[in-house]
Amino acid sequence: MTQLFRTFLIFLCLLTNIAAFAIEPAQPAPTKTETIQTAFPEGKKLHDAHCVKCHQSMTFEKPDDIYSRPERIIKQYDSLKTQVQRCVTNTDLMWFEEEVDNVSHYLNEQYYHFEIKE
Ligand code: HEC
Repeated sequence: MTQLFRTFLIFLCLLTNIAAFAIEPAQPAPTKTETIQTAFPEGKKLHDAHCVKCHQSMTFEKPDDIYSRPERIIKQYDSLKTQVQRCVTNTDLMWFEEEVDNVSHYLNEQYYHFEIKE
């Protein structure tokens, strides 16, 4: 292999690397919660944006541990909604009833599976 050809190959490699970066910006690997299927995408969006970080810091980095911990206090859908409202208020979020409902439904669908009598 001639020196010139080798230089050309190295140049080509660099070029394709640069092109690959330009076309496909580095994306963080999706976390578990980003790949979840849900009937309540609005609830999931609100939850992921406002609720995960604080719970995650309390529960050893696994964001959903708090909902499935053995000592969890919530035993029915009404209490789930009350707790969601409590966390919303504590966080100084000004959510409409609809947003609280959406997130409660989302959490119920994913973790609690209570029967909903509404
Ligand atoms: C600033 C921290 C913080 C934020 C932000 C927060 N929470 Fe919480 N959350 C807590 C704490 C602390 C507990 C545990 C309460 C307890 O054990 O009595 C908790 C518990 C809960 C539980 C009960 C878990 C169980 O089954 O035992 C639910 C449901 C919940 N939060 C929902 C939410 C939702 C929805 C949001 C977003 C709107 C949210 N939280 C935001 C701190 C937070």
